[in-house]
Amino acid sequence: MYLGLDLGTSGLKGVLIDADQRIVAEATAPLTVSRPRDGWSEQSPADWIAAAEAVLRALPEAARAATEAIGLSGQMHGAVLLDRSDNVLRPCILWNDTRAHREAAELDADPAFRRISGNIVFPGFTAPKLLWLRRHEPALFTQVARVLLPKDYLRLWLTGEHVAEMSDASGTSWLDTGARDWSEALLAATGLDRTAMPRLVEGVAVSGRLRPELARRFGLRPGAVVAGGAGDNAAAAIGLGVVKAGQGFVSLGTSGVLFAANDRYRPDPATAVHSFCHALPGKWHQMGVILAATDALNWFARLAGSEPAALAEALGTLKAPGKTRFLPFLGGERTPLNDAAIRGAFIGLDHATDREAATRAVLEGVTFAIRDCRDALYATGSRIDRLLATGGGAKSDYWLAALATALGTPVARPAAGDYGAAFGAARLAFMAATGAGAEIATPPTIARTFEPVAALTEAFDAGHARYRAAATAIRGLT
Ligand code: XUL
Repeated sequence: MYLGLDLGTSGLKGVLIDADQRIVAEATAPLTVSRPRDGWSEQSPADWIAAAEAVLRALPEAARAATEAIGLSGQMHGAVLLDRSDNVLRPCILWNDTRAHREAAELDADPAFRRISGNIVFPGFTAPKLLWLRRHEPALFTQVARVLLPKDYLRLWLTGEHVAEMSDASGTSWLDTGARDWSEALLAATGLDRTAMPRLVEGVAVSGRLRPELARRFGLRPGAVVAGGAGDNAAAAIGLGVVKAGQGFVSLGTSGVLFAANDRYRPDPATAVHSFCHALPGKWHQMGVILAATDALNWFARLAGSEPAALAEALGTLKAPGKTRFLPFLGGERTPLNDAAIRGAFIGLDHATDREAATRAVLEGVTFAIRDCRDALYATGSRIDRLLATGGGAKSDYWLAALATALGTPVARPAAGDYGAAFGAARLAFMAATGAGAEIATPPTIARTFEPVAALTEAFDAGHARYRAAATAIRGLT
């Protein structure tokens, strides 16, 4: 058995697979985000461990005892700050926290960052958070002995080792992404050096072994291997079999992601596309990232006093975008705007705007934001032939039909089953334990493919143009 643990933003999920990659058991434990100030987003690493304990206990005992390897996946970019004795110094500053926007802009102005890391230094990335800490919490900064990414803190708990892997490390702004190694120059720019960084391995490599104490406590197999794993997007790609150029996926989760696998390293920071290492050795990927996808629908559902799924289901068949526009920038935006200060908006409200029209506007707004990501990815020369859909929002027919039409690409929904990041992490565990490679990352069976609706293509292109104009018009207003 192979166990994948995905440390998400809204919950920690475990998926256990057998040697035929069949899902044997699943368990989840919820997590909450604390937002103590505007733009802040934090979680306590102790809550992640409690969630991991709950998930491990919820898995069947026999399967636990037969677990040969564990793979880790997780929300990217967060800064877990540890002192010399591995004590956590403060709550983790998460990927969607934009407090370090000034520091990010400063680092980004140093050409070394884009040149070496291959990416814009976004406010949510890890390096600017350390610069923010040095300025705003200097006493804590002097105690920082090690910086870990969220899932790598789980690894420290599981194995006692400080290890990171390439895909997640790519989102720190400290990695030489082409060379797949930490950059001393980029670390020095934030007052750190290599000693503060975990050892780097590939996602398919063995990163350590389960601590005997945990094996005893949870009835897990003693000495079980812990694989390098991956950041949640690269892990989802492994779960969906997105490993070759031309393959891609769209994820409608808390964040929205348009992901393309690449056959080589293709940095193009000016587009605000992320160019990161993939979880497989010698492979890279690109993605456009928006900060609120299902988060936007969840926000609106709370306001409307309804359930997000019920709102989306009530929409029926795809219609041409209406007059009402929604801009989904609830916590700033990454691709293509790189704007931490921008905030969301409804535009074009009138007496006739009812709950249905507003829901459609929310789904369309996220769809158009992902179309912006597509345009940014295409500007780098990448192409996507077909998209697989994943994340909670992929359950909505309306949303997938809108995406297919706005992007001009078929969007395929996998058959029932969980092919997300936890499943991908389980596959990486399989690879680390057996030496298997990309050949086991097969695509899922497809339940339904949404083709672009030709009769609505023009209306969606026009809707996207209006969305663009609105996004430009509101910049600087908030
Ligand atoms: C990717 C990103 C998000 C998080 C969400 O760059 O910030 O997709 O990984 O978990």
